[in-house]
Amino acid sequence: MIKKGIILAGGNGTRMSPLTKAVNKQLLPLYDKPLIFYSLSILMLSKIKDVLIIVNKGQLEQYKKVLPNGKNLGMNISYKEQEKPNGLPEAFLIGEDFIKNDNVALILGDNFFYAQNLTSILIEATKLNKGSQVILHKVNKPELYGVATIRKKKIVSIREKPKKFISDKAITGLYFFDNKVIKYSKKLKKSKRNEFEITDLLKKYNKQNKLKYKELGRGAVWLDTGSIEDFHNASSFVSTIENRQGIKIACLEEIALNNNWISKKEIKTSIKFYGKCDYSNYLKSFL
Ligand code: G1P
Repeated sequence: MIKKGIILAGGNGTRMSPLTKAVNKQLLPLYDKPLIFYSLSILMLSKIKDVLIIVNKGQLEQYKKVLPNGKNLGMNISYKEQEKPNGLPEAFLIGEDFIKNDNVALILGDNFFYAQNLTSILIEATKLNKGSQVILHKVNKPELYGVATIRKKKIVSIREKPKKFISDKAITGLYFFDNKVIKYSKKLKKSKRNEFEITDLLKKYNKQNKLKYKELGRGAVWLDTGSIEDFHNASSFVSTIENRQGIKIACLEEIALNNNWISKKEIKTSIKFYGKCDYSNYLKSFL
């Protein structure tokens, strides 16, 4: 079982400068909420209550202002700072004390998922005992991502940002690992781009036949928020859905309430915390 999750919310967001000069990218608004709400909501939909958020050195206070400790969500949210970004697997070293002997999920703070059957896929993935699992999704520009080639329902190769086409199945930024991930991360070597690569970790699991995958179908949405244009498009997507349906994507308190982690009392506290705003008005509908 996986009951712990890490959100990697570091990174310099250089591609989005000057927006990211003073504020971390994951705190910028994706329509009506900070970007990090969306990745946190994915862990919450996975019924993961214990979350470590890894942030850049010096940016901790920014995060704590909006997500203090998770109490109001019936969760336990803690933080660790990262000296400088060296690649995704570093999350398991920074998070070693948090993970202890357990299995763990990792989500990148800038990934956006939206799909009808998402919750059931997530719940299924958290049943993992041994090995690891990734979520794949077809993309138009696989050269921007880690990709996996599938043959006979098995992953036969994995590449990080392949210059030559090998597959259009991107490995999304949501990963499920057993506890060996700590040991394996310690042994990784840096890649040509001078980073520790999550795809090298996945290759290690795959070699031992211990890497499972689940593909999100064509009705699912996985969006990138790496560039300003992508960020804007993802924001428009949220606005379109929310305004049409009158339901919010990634309303943390709503998910916590549905999970029975909080009661109406905590919703009231949240309304006070956020103050008079559209988000609070939405929360009022649950009272
Ligand atoms: C990282 C991973 C890549 C993965 C992507 C998902 O890319 O290295 O394998 O497909 O996240 O968002 P990066 O953020 O380093 O470009």
